Amino acid sequence: MYPTKVLVVGATGATGKHVVQMMLDQGHAVIALVRSKESMLSKLNDKTKNIDRLEISEGSITQMKHEQLVELTKDCDYVVSCLGHNMTFKGMFVKDRRLVADACKKLTKAMPASCKFLLMGSDGVAHKGVDPKRKLGERAIIFMLRYLIPPHADNEKAAAYLLGPDGKKLDWVIVRPTNLVDAEEASGKYTISEKAEVSLFGDTSISRNDVAHFFVELMTKEETYSKYQHKMPVVVGIPEEQSPKADSEPTETEGAESEATEAEDNLRRELLLDAEAESEPTETEDTESEPTETEEAESEATEPEDNLRRELLLDAEAESEPTETEDTESEPTETEEAESETTEAEDNLRRELLLDAEADSDPTETEEPTETDDRFRIPRRLAASAPERK
Ligand SMILES: NC(=O)c1ccc[n+]([C@@H]2O[C@H](COP(=O)([O-])OP(=O)(O)OC[C@H]3O[C@@H](n4cnc5c(N)ncnc54)[C@H](OP(=O)(O)O)[C@@H]3O)[C@@H](O)[C@H]2O)c1
Repeated sequence: MYPTKVLVVGATGATGKHVVQMMLDQGHAVIALVRSKESMLSKLNDKTKNIDRLEISEGSITQMKHEQLVELTKDCDYVVSCLGHNMTFKGMFVKDRRLVADACKKLTKAMPASCKFLLMGSDGVAHKGVDPKRKLGERAIIFMLRYLIPPHADNEKAAAYLLGPDGKKLDWVIVRPTNLVDAEEASGKYTISEKAEVSLFGDTSISRNDVAHFFVELMTKEETYSKYQHKMPVVVGIPEEQSPKADSEPTETEGAESEATEAEDNLRRELLLDAEAESEPTETEDTESEPTETEEAESEATEPEDNLRRELLLDAEAESEPTETEDTESEPTETEEAESETTEAEDNLRRELLLDAEADSDPTETEEPTETDDRFRIPRRLAASAPERK
């Protein structure tokens, strides 16, 4: 391991601050690009080592010019983005809706060719062609959130950029954590999977400390970086009581499957249109034709409800093993039903998000999901970061 120089954006964030702290503690040089120097200093603990190796550059990534970023990154081995939208209405819907994707483009265009880019994403963002296809309920939720929650679409855009032609010329890793929680310190106990196989409805989580730990591993262990270059590893914490077993045998999908099935059944009842679609999903799910979600998100569809309805109709058809003669388009009652059910579902979703936002703003809140919560619980990682950890 050699001393590395890294630029961290989102360095004042709940994960970014650990990346800064851990890199300094290991003797590496860190440049933190932050909106407030005071805020950065207040986030570091008193025992931080090598504080003289920290350079704080004050400014917002959204305002930085290309030349300034070239200057900032010129000696860097890595650039890490732990940016996340502030979970206020303004932070999510008004200001910098493309915060993560725009920063990703600006930074990768400015950094030297030898520099590696590490992006904090979410396991709600798919790695198409690598991840197994998510079940219907999860796809429906992701599809709706793409339109309702800008941070999720932003994370998808950032990933799409790196996975696209520009990204082929760059060195990068997108780290995809499951639900984020806070811990006293990094445990170093988490599973790393190249595919997103954990249900979005499961209660898997990883501490921000451990996400930072993985970033540090990528930056300080050549073999770890090489293993995940151009990949989107999903990191999932291993609960304390499972640690010994999980160390030798990762159990990341355990239990998640049955919860997902239940949630999906509920969701399907709310959203889907006919009796056939309400029957248990068949084995054909994984082999059906490729979804069009990503392409539709890219083109910024102007009529999300119509798209969603079409998607659900297609999924319902595929999952109910249609006969040759089946023609969904010619059944007007389904479409009418879908229209009213989709609107209702979106209303429920909005209500739920508002409730979630209120709950998240209360640091003493304990998460005791009610029956209603379970039916339409939005995985927090899709709604981006939660503020309780600050
Ligand atoms: N919550 C979850 O369960 C979850 C799960 C998986 C993935 N994620 C993803 O993880 C990422 C980071 O999460 P986190 O909780 O560590 O983030 P966080 O604590 O909210 O930190 C966000 C960082 O972004 C900066 N930032 C926000 N808006 C900005 C703007 N307009 N211009 C410049 N900087 C800005 C903040 O700076 P200031 O301090 O100046 O505001 C802060 O440093 C997010 O992308 C999120 O989507 C979240």
